[in-house]
Amino acid sequence: GHAVVPSSSLIPDDPSVLLTTAGMQQFKKYYTGEADPMKDFNSLNVCSIQKSFRTSDIDEVGDDSHLTFFEMLGNFSFGGYFKEEAIRYAHEFLTSKEWMGLDISYVTIFKGSDMVPKDTESENIWKSLGVADVREEGMGDVFWGPTGASGPCGPTTEIYCTNANGKDVEIWNIVFNEFLCSGSREQLLAGDAALTPLEKKGIDTGMGLERLAMISQNKKNIFETDLFAPVIQAVDSRVAQYNPHYATETMKRMIAD
Ligand code: GLY
Repeated sequence: GHAVVPSSSLIPDDPSVLLTTAGMQQFKKYYTGEADPMKDFNSLNVCSIQKSFRTSDIDEVGDDSHLTFFEMLGNFSFGGYFKEEAIRYAHEFLTSKEWMGLDISYVTIFKGSDMVPKDTESENIWKSLGVADVREEGMGDVFWGPTGASGPCGPTTEIYCTNANGKDVEIWNIVFNEFLCSGSREQLLAGDAALTPLEKKGIDTGMGLERLAMISQNKKNIFETDLFAPVIQAVDSRVAQYNPHYATETMKRMIAD
């Protein structure tokens, strides 16, 4: 029942960021109440596949799972549903044979901080769905946002699956947008920003298409998936014309990204 919304441009209309970094970017105004989702989408719930660009992980590009440019699958709710439904939908989509049919290796929940309590509700929901390995993480890992100079943010729960290398990789992040942060993420982490509860709590999820492909195609890294393998082959064939020993696997992956 979600309205399907096209990806927004990588050049955002939000002046607080240079490039679109997440699916929620184009929806910020619906969390804050500045815009009405019923008027624009005829629904409180939407989904998208968003072109995203992140420089925060640029030093990781070349490993098995990081990119600067990627596509993010997301479902979003602006006061429609909250934790119970969001976790249930994610669990069903990933594990049901009707959909992805994957195994979840473990999930994380927010362990609490001096500003925000521990997310025991999510812990209980996961356990009721039969996911026994629920790990606690802090502000650095499982508290999303805000993006840019201020905005919606909140605790998250992350889902990990195992790739063909036996490595657990985060594939989906479910954010519970409960607060409006007065400053940037850096200010929030330094204790220099205030959190005010949002009038309507929201859901913001982000699942990496390339990582989901790696898990569902049982590959050791994203570059072996059908999305990247032809690009790596094209890089290989060009490199072969020059000095094949010069280009390392990491370099080829960087070029592919
Ligand atoms: N906005 C959620 C995420 O990008 O992980």
